[in-house]
Amino acid sequence: MSTGKPPVIQIRRVTKSYGHGDAVVHALRGPDGPDGTPHGVDLDVAEGDYVAVMGSSGSGKSTLMNILGCLDVPTAGRYLLDGTDVGHLDEGQLALVRNRKIGFVFQSFNLVPRTTALAQVELPLAYAGVRAAERRRRAMAALTLVGLADRAGHKPNQLSGGQQQRVAVARALVTAPAMLLADEPTGNLDSRSTEEVLGLIDGLNARGRTVVMITHEDEVARHAKRVVRLVDGAIVSDVRQTPVDAPPPALAAEVVA
Ligand SMILES: Nc1ncnc2c1ncn2[C@@H]1O[C@H](COP(=O)(O)OP(=O)(O)OP(=O)(O)O)[C@@H](O)[C@H]1O
Ligand SMILES: [Mg+2]
Repeated sequence: MSTGKPPVIQIRRVTKSYGHGDAVVHALRGPDGPDGTPHGVDLDVAEGDYVAVMGSSGSGKSTLMNILGCLDVPTAGRYLLDGTDVGHLDEGQLALVRNRKIGFVFQSFNLVPRTTALAQVELPLAYAGVRAAERRRRAMAALTLVGLADRAGHKPNQLSGGQQQRVAVARALVTAPAMLLADEPTGNLDSRSTEEVLGLIDGLNARGRTVVMITHEDEVARHAKRVVRLVDGAIVSDVRQTPVDAPPPALAAEVVA
């Protein structure tokens, strides 16, 4: 790895199954092992990488993301996050890891209804025990970064879709997490809002954040440094578009232009 550091994400032989017996679904299974049983998924992600996860509906993208984000645990296999085996952590410790290390952006925004943009962005800081004045200062800084300082007092129903998604990005980055996980962050957006949100994510990666982003769209995947494709719960291709330590492709293109 060019950074010389161990990968921030290491998953080894991870499987995830739902249900039992005839009704079992192997949402993540990896390639078949020599005896025909699932080998599980192996994946390393270096610090500073920008990975797009693609695959058709039901291929296991969200399942993988939920495991990476410590929102769900594998049926089998190991997940080392920053060198820590998260399989050994209890619920409280997992919640702490989520709060400290990971920012999430969900397809459906997941904003709290009837709550101002500023209060939404303050929430993860409240969970982290940050005091009110500092919370407000950092939440305003995050909203400023996403270009929404002038909408701080607006509730979700008073914001456009793109603005709501930018509030969700601000909420994901307000704790300064090392890793940003985004499940179709532009799935509900028009092309202009898509560009805005991708520009933000590109900028976060350029400043060193590791990004893993699910998408269905080739245009969105072009922003990533690496594209991983899933079919039926297994990684079938893993293509590097740009080196980990280079700027993300869209920003590099701007510099040239
Ligand atoms: N809680 C659950 N119980 C049973 N099966 C599940 C559960 N969650 C997911 N699955 C199944 O696991 C498989 C993978 O689902 P997953 O949500 O990871 O797909 P996805 O690639 O994110 O698809 P999409 O693009 O539609 O979001 C699917 O076949 C789905 O039906
Ligand atoms: Mg999904």
